[in-house]
Amino acid sequence: MSSNVRVTPHPSFDVLAATTAARLITRLLDVQGDRGEATVVLTGGSVGIATLREVAKSPARLAVDWGKVNIWFGDERFVETNSPDRNCGQAAQALLDQIPVDPARVHIMAASDTVASLDEAVQKYAAELAAAAKTEWLKDDDAPEQEPVVPRFDVLLLGLGPDAHIASLFPDMAGIRTKGVSVVGVTNSPKPPASRVSLTLETINSAQEIWIVAAGADKAAAVGLGLAGANEVQVPASGARGLVKTLWLLDEAAAAKVPSALMRREN
Ligand code: 6PG
Repeated sequence: MSSNVRVTPHPSFDVLAATTAARLITRLLDVQGDRGEATVVLTGGSVGIATLREVAKSPARLAVDWGKVNIWFGDERFVETNSPDRNCGQAAQALLDQIPVDPARVHIMAASDTVASLDEAVQKYAAELAAAAKTEWLKDDDAPEQEPVVPRFDVLLLGLGPDAHIASLFPDMAGIRTKGVSVVGVTNSPKPPASRVSLTLETINSAQEIWIVAAGADKAAAVGLGLAGANEVQVPASGARGLVKTLWLLDEAAAAKVPSALMRREN
């Protein structure tokens, strides 16, 4: 396993969520200190949303210039705007409605009642990513020759399914195999609801840091396979690799099948 992958177990779900929240606040502060603004990609799922609730409770959140934080989503359920299933709605309730974000910097994926089709939602998000990438690229003095199609993601959060899915990229399905585009539509998700919009693995892996957050014994096998270098089509989580760092932030139950040699205990 490459040196930029780190596995950290936490004693409980609550400690995992609170620690990930503290880690996220610190990372946003560090990046804002260096670059003036920071970009995070949020995830749905129990740990991802619990982390946002913990950020909302933390006094340290007041140190972040939320008006200079760009917020994207790794995936979204393609349901109506007001559906409780919407990841962005859960994120808003958990945190975004409680902090002074700049609405122009919060990029949600289209809901089924705001566009004509799933494909339109996919194309819309890809275009939004590309527009943000172009703006960054034009401002960046040492920008790469090739104009990127997605902006710089400083932290990309991923939940983990018991089948080792990440975002809405499921084992052996078209999404995990999709290359050459930044966003993909999913129509037969094994995890309801069936229709979703997801970043592709290539887009996920364009992030500086990827944090995979998982809790519960039902995730232990997926974690073990994800860390064992399995094929990404069968084990999507194994394909997640940040450009600089990949953190597996787990509770003890989800870490049960991780070889102790890979563990980095922090308590
Ligand atoms: C979604 C999520 C999905 C989730 C995992 C883990 O939209 O459903 O993005 O990838 O993060 O399924 O979810 P749980 O932590 O709730 O099991």
